[in-house]
Amino acid sequence: MSTIYQATASAPVNIAVIKYWGKRDTKLILPTNSSLSVTLDQDHLRSTTTSRADPSFERDQLWLNGKEDEIKPGSRLETCITEMKRLRKEYEDQNPNEPKAISLLISSYKVHIASYNNFPTAAGLASSASGFAALVASLAQLYNLPASPSTLSLIARQGSGSACRSLFGGFVAWQMGSDPSGSDSLAVQVAPQEHWPQMHALICVVSDDKKGTSSTSGMQRTVETSTLLQHRIKDVVPWRMEKISKAILERDFDTFARITMADSNQFHAVALDTEPPIFYMNDVSRAIIALIVEYNRLSVEAGKGYKAAYTYDAGPNAVIYALEENIKEIVQLIVSYFPQKPGEFKDVWGIFGESAADL
Ligand code: PMV
Repeated sequence: MSTIYQATASAPVNIAVIKYWGKRDTKLILPTNSSLSVTLDQDHLRSTTTSRADPSFERDQLWLNGKEDEIKPGSRLETCITEMKRLRKEYEDQNPNEPKAISLLISSYKVHIASYNNFPTAAGLASSASGFAALVASLAQLYNLPASPSTLSLIARQGSGSACRSLFGGFVAWQMGSDPSGSDSLAVQVAPQEHWPQMHALICVVSDDKKGTSSTSGMQRTVETSTLLQHRIKDVVPWRMEKISKAILERDFDTFARITMADSNQFHAVALDTEPPIFYMNDVSRAIIALIVEYNRLSVEAGKGYKAAYTYDAGPNAVIYALEENIKEIVQLIVSYFPQKPGEFKDVWGIFGESAADL
């Protein structure tokens, strides 16, 4: 009987507080600015991927949530699989005498990959980030590669930029790098989750429809037409990266919240500065911003500082970062102003993915 080569890995979603928006190299996915995110390490927002290699397979194949997805030649999916096979081949060439726990020909076998998301795909909840991170992690396990998460992030990045940050938990920076080959455009951990365990996230699901303008085409249009983007990448993001990293290391929620909200605002301003303009937020998104601004204003007035930080990606859903002690109050506030209503406001997902009613 032949050996079965199979491995399963899972990766969570990450939500940026300093947004990645714009590529300087579209093939290698090299960004125009560094970014920073928090990995939402909870059971309910994950991609889980199983990869299997077998000499009898005739072609590489992928199933996404049980449905076959074509691996198009030249696609990012194909790039990631090819890059992982190349890493394995390199490893085989460098370690010809390795004990044969695994066939030294495995890099030449075709692979079958099955991936599941336990949340709506393409709802502005970064399913491509967790998806490509889980894909790369499962192939690394299948190939028994001793590669570090930063090394794997170089490959996940070529699937979807933000995916490189999902290879780490906690607070993660994607350093834009400067080498044209992309060898220094990788993710590093700023601090593990245990460093600031009081930090939690609420996801306000305003809509789980597929988003209107994909991040790929939106970014390209912004890079080509926005003058505000040039100001953002040169004069704003570099100091924000430094300041928010320091705030995380010092567990300074006030600074963390102010920079997070300012960066979300600037990302959406840059989208609006695109020709033709891109609108990712809707009226409910903007009403949630108004509520959080007022909530923080009252808290600052009472001498308690900021209590909540909103951020929005390429869609209308809000992610609210807050310290655990304030989560219950914020959930109550959100559900009292935004009762669940089809077509208007769907749900609040708590820190561990519970619906608001459970919190
Ligand atoms: O990695 P992509 O192509 O899905 O782009 C992600 C872009 C944002 O989510 C808006 C920002 C970010 O840094 O995650």
